[in-house]
Amino acid sequence: MTEIAGRTAVVTGGGNGIGMGLAKELARQGARVAVTDIMLENAEKVATAIRTAGGEAIALACDVCERRSINAMHDAVHAAFGPAQLLFANAGATSFEPLMEMSDDDVDWILQVNLHGVMNTTRAFLPDMIAAGEGHICATASMAGLLPGWIPVHAPYSAAKAGIIGLMMNLGLELREHNVFTTSYCPGGVATGMKDNNARYRPAKFGGPGEAEVHVSEASANAKSMAFYSPDAVAPMVLDAVRNNRAFIFDHPEQRAEFRRTYSGIVEACYDAADQWHAEHGTPDANPEGARLVTT
Ligand SMILES: NC(=O)c1ccc[n+]([C@@H]2O[C@H](COP(=O)([O-])OP(=O)(O)OC[C@H]3O[C@@H](n4cnc5c(N)ncnc54)[C@H](O)[C@@H]3O)[C@@H](O)[C@H]2O)c1
Repeated sequence: MTEIAGRTAVVTGGGNGIGMGLAKELARQGARVAVTDIMLENAEKVATAIRTAGGEAIALACDVCERRSINAMHDAVHAAFGPAQLLFANAGATSFEPLMEMSDDDVDWILQVNLHGVMNTTRAFLPDMIAAGEGHICATASMAGLLPGWIPVHAPYSAAKAGIIGLMMNLGLELREHNVFTTSYCPGGVATGMKDNNARYRPAKFGGPGEAEVHVSEASANAKSMAFYSPDAVAPMVLDAVRNNRAFIFDHPEQRAEFRRTYSGIVEACYDAADQWHAEHGTPDANPEGARLVTT
């Protein structure tokens, strides 16, 4: 079990949407919350709302695309609340444009904010967790990382979100002996400002804030209709999964069929093809030295 009450929690991208819902729910459940965001004024509004409701929170500026900014945020959390036991690496941004119509800056931005942001934030907070022998990192990935066909035409975003899932799964094994757990939260549709606000928080090094609304290509706009839950409604579900140390959180039961179709299709087709290859060509020779490359 991961305890929430009495713990210090950090939420990146906590100034709006899912992060805001998580920050408020964490405080409601008794955690001290550092609400961090590239948009400091939004983080401040959330922290103020938490304090007004009787909770404990501070607001901090942090651009997760910058290691220096993350490390400064880590130190400020430490100074205010001591070491953090809970990290919600949630900050993210998206784009719905064909890959070759995106600028290099936008491709870099989407990968950095979504994937490197989670990686670098994790690396900043992990030493404290390992030293304390307790902790939990919950990264907001996306169903886009597992079901890239659910909303077509956002390739770099899907790549980054799949990367988060690989990171959390592998790291979870590495950290088991330290009593530190990892979770990939894969939202399947939450009503937030993401589409409308997204480009407003593009950092200067990727071209700075752009047009407010993300361009949605026709293919993405026509994506399967889905229910969009509210951030306040999903937050208790996420915290329940974290409390129970679950490796994944899926919030949309109606995506089960698509998930099963995608993966059972891949599993069957790929292993049928492998079986056929082996049957027709024989099983490839195994290296007697194992993984070591032997050149003759
Ligand atoms: N809303 C959905 O349906 C959905 C679905 C799947 C995944 N997600 C993921 O959920 C997370 C939260 O998104 P949301 O839907 O709440 O959107 P949102 O736009 O409401 O919130 C994103 C927050 O991240 C902050 N942010 C952006 N760039 C940042 C940076 N460089 N450094 C620090 N903070 C930064 C923004 O200021 C904002 O407060 C993202 O990782 C997103 O990819 C959302």
